[in-house]
Order: sequence, then C-alpha cells, then structure tokens
Amino acid sequence: MRVGVLTGGGDCPGLNAVIRAVVRKAERELDAQVLGFLDGWSGLLDDRSVELTVANCRGILPRGGTIIGTSRYQPFMFADGMDRVRATMARREVDALVVIGGEGTLSAATRVYEEGIALVGVPKTIDNDIDCTERTFGFDTAVQIATDAIDRLHTTAESHNRVMVVEVMGRHVGHIATWAGIAGGATVTLVPEEPFDIGEVCEALIRRHERGPYASIVVVAEGALPKEGTLDVKEPEVDQYGHKRLGGICNVVAAEIEARTGYETRVTVLGHVQRGGTPTSLDRVLSTWFGVAAMEAIADGDFGKMVAFQNGKVVRVELAKATASLKYTSPELLRTARTFFA
Ligand code: F6P
Repeated sequence: MRVGVLTGGGDCPGLNAVIRAVVRKAERELDAQVLGFLDGWSGLLDDRSVELTVANCRGILPRGGTIIGTSRYQPFMFADGMDRVRATMARREVDALVVIGGEGTLSAATRVYEEGIALVGVPKTIDNDIDCTERTFGFDTAVQIATDAIDRLHTTAESHNRVMVVEVMGRHVGHIATWAGIAGGATVTLVPEEPFDIGEVCEALIRRHERGPYASIVVVAEGALPKEGTLDVKEPEVDQYGHKRLGGICNVVAAEIEARTGYETRVTVLGHVQRGGTPTSLDRVLSTWFGVAAMEAIADGDFGKMVAFQNGKVVRVELAKATASLKYTSPELLRTARTFFA
C-alpha cells in the first residue's frame, strides 16, 4: 500500500509529530510506503512530493512547522483541480491520503472524498475550532505561549499602572483567548462569540482600578467584534486565498480604553509567535495518537473519516459531520471567565 500525506492551512505545532507517527505506523507495522505531498493540496495538484521514511523523519517530533510545507490552496479553486489530483495519485500509485488540516483543508477533504478519493482527515489548528473533537493539536501550545506572554505583561503593567491589551489568534472562535485569559488572570477577555460593548469594558476597568490594583490585562481574540453601531472597525483586507487578514482590533480597543478612562494603555499582538516553535508534551502525544489512528483507519479501509479526541479516547467520526460547522467556546467556560472580569 502507498499512502500520501499532506499538511494544509496555517501551520501549527505538532504537524511533524503526526507525520512521524504516520510514517512509523506505515513502515514498521503495515508494510506501507508514505509519500509526502509538498505545500498542502498544491503538491498533489502539481505532482510535487517526497518519499517519507522512518530514517528521514528522525528528529522531527519536537520540531514546529511542517517538513513538507503547507499552503491554503485547495483543488476546488481550479476547474481541473480534481483531474489533477486523480492524475497525480495514479502516476504516484497512491492508494489513499492522510489529510492533516483545519477548517478549510478538511472541508476540501470532505468534497475530495465525495469525488471518490480514499482519505482520512486529522484535525489540526491552534484555534481548536474543529467540531466533533474536544481538542485539536497545536491548541495547547498556543495557549501556553499566550499565557506566558500574559504573565510577562502583568509585571510590566503593574510597574507602570497601565492597561495592557493583548491580541491572540482566533478568527471565528475564542478558545485561545478564553483559556489564556483564564490561565493568565485577565481582567477582561473579548471573543468572537459575544460581541462586546466598549462602554462596559471601560466601566469594568474603572471599577477595578478604583478598588486598588492599577493595572489590567485585556485579552482580545483577533476576530472579536464590537456590538453593532458601538465602534467603528475597518473591514480587513483579503489575502490571495480569499481569507480576511485579521489583526488590529486590539488597536481600536486600546485607543478607546485610553480615551474613555484616561488610563495609559499599551498593545501587544502575539500573532504568529503562537504558531511557532516546539509543541508542548500534550500536543506531541495527541499528534502522535492521531497519526497512528489515521493510519489504522486507512489500513481498515475506513475512509471519509476524521480522527477525533472524545472522552479520553481517539475515535473516528464522519468527516462531513466534523466539517459541517465550527466548534465554539462553551458558554459555561465563557461564564466562568466572566466571574473574574474586573
Ligand atoms: O487558522 C489558524 C490561524 O492561525 C488563525 O488563528 C489566524 O487567523 C490565521 O491562521 C492566520 O493566517 P495566516 O498565517 O495566513 O496569516
């Protein structure tokens, strides 16, 4: 058996750990070969690949990023996309694919499967917004990086009696913001799931500062939006894949806080730092577990599935179900976070 593997969408810590696990399971237990398609779906469209072996995957477990590259291209962006996918798979004698990706990549995988290609999906994203799995790998690492940053911002905020506004990733969901906000002891956390009222945010800060501590941390998910008609926010630019280029809401929030409260306010945008570097041990284990489980599904011929983490186990779910909608932050956790606001 010959299996193709690709990594699509934004990179994320743990991708290499999945690749290593897929290769190890294939070579050592299933007598299968693995071909890594380069730069996501683009490698499959243009027939660019590299043989992956236990020998050439040595040492990649703790490495961030992806050794086979990634992109946001997908077959349905091209009229002949599916023909090119079929041609490459036939030419390279690939029987099935392991598709490692987030919302965009796995939605494309669902359609590619419906077009008759044998494949299994693996959920990756620091955003943790894939449905039917309690966790995606990369999330734990991103939360840890954001929490470390917030811890550091606390001491400088306290020294200067400042408000620090920290922007974290999360275009549709506030998982990173909520977890890092709770872990880092944020004064207020703003998430895409609940449009915010800047007036209420400022009132909360004033209440806190009048009580005694004169420093605050406001965590803002990049996709957080004000309640309609309360603040002017610029429409973001769109990149070459049609994705909105987010980032910058924290500047609007910080300027408004300073203007309305008079408190000195500074901004930190964590950006791609959250996606870089070595995965936490939790993400390494989850990635490894997912990689092995994906190869087991391929060996069983159980295609059109996504491996998922549910109730302490890795299970298989329908890819179509997992990609039908996003997984939003639980209202219970948002309520828990609110207990500490101001
Ligand atoms: O989807 C993961 C993610 O990290 C989002 O949180 C973020 O909005 C986006 O990717 C950034 O994408 P890019 O790397 O293309 O700037």
